[in-house]
Amino acid sequence: MVELTRGVAPGIVGAIDLGGVRRVVDVGGGHGALLCAILEAHPAVEGAVFDLEHAREGALALFASRGVAARASFVAGSCFDAAPPPADVYVMKSVIHDWDDARSLQIVGKCREAIADGARLLVVEPPAPTARGNATLDWILTFSDINMLVNTGGRERTEAEYRALLEAAGLCVTCVREAPSFFRVFEAVRA
Ligand SMILES: C[S@@+](CC[C@H](N)C(=O)[O-])C[C@H]1O[C@@H](n2cnc3c(N)ncnc32)[C@H](O)[C@@H]1O
Repeated sequence: MVELTRGVAPGIVGAIDLGGVRRVVDVGGGHGALLCAILEAHPAVEGAVFDLEHAREGALALFASRGVAARASFVAGSCFDAAPPPADVYVMKSVIHDWDDARSLQIVGKCREAIADGARLLVVEPPAPTARGNATLDWILTFSDINMLVNTGGRERTEAEYRALLEAAGLCVTCVREAPSFFRVFEAVRA
């Protein structure tokens, strides 16, 4: 995931607006490949990865190797049991598709608990197509859907399904931004 995310992170960072943002938390951020790209592009921003303890060592190593350790921290916790630490912006990339609808709703619900007025959640996933069209996208998302089903019990979702999930958790989707490699950024605030 670090290598996959390293490749697409600059494009995702370019697609999102972090003007005026002081603190970003990457929920299920793994080793922080996306957070590092955010901090590199925004020198006034500080951030944290919120993930299970097993990701700590890799995250701290990546922060150091990317020269952002002074502005990055790691917070251990489960996104099912605890709200992420305070931030202006929460990013969550390639996490929801690992889980079924009930578990996904739990994760987004915990994020909602943390989202204060003026804060935002950015869910970064490539939505599944609703009709055949782009052969590359069809192949990638079909493969990934089966991969998630077999290996994690999760699934790929259409844009409408991501919107419905976020809204079911008490959030309001304010925009959906395009990013490279078929990713979309679903930007949501408290409803
Ligand atoms: C597919 S990886 C995505 C990592 C990263 N967001 C990226 O895109 O490179 C899913 C991440 O969810 C994390 N995760 C799994 N269960 C979790 C939990 N209960 N609480 C927090 N993070 C969890 C994993 O440790 C892993 O880092």
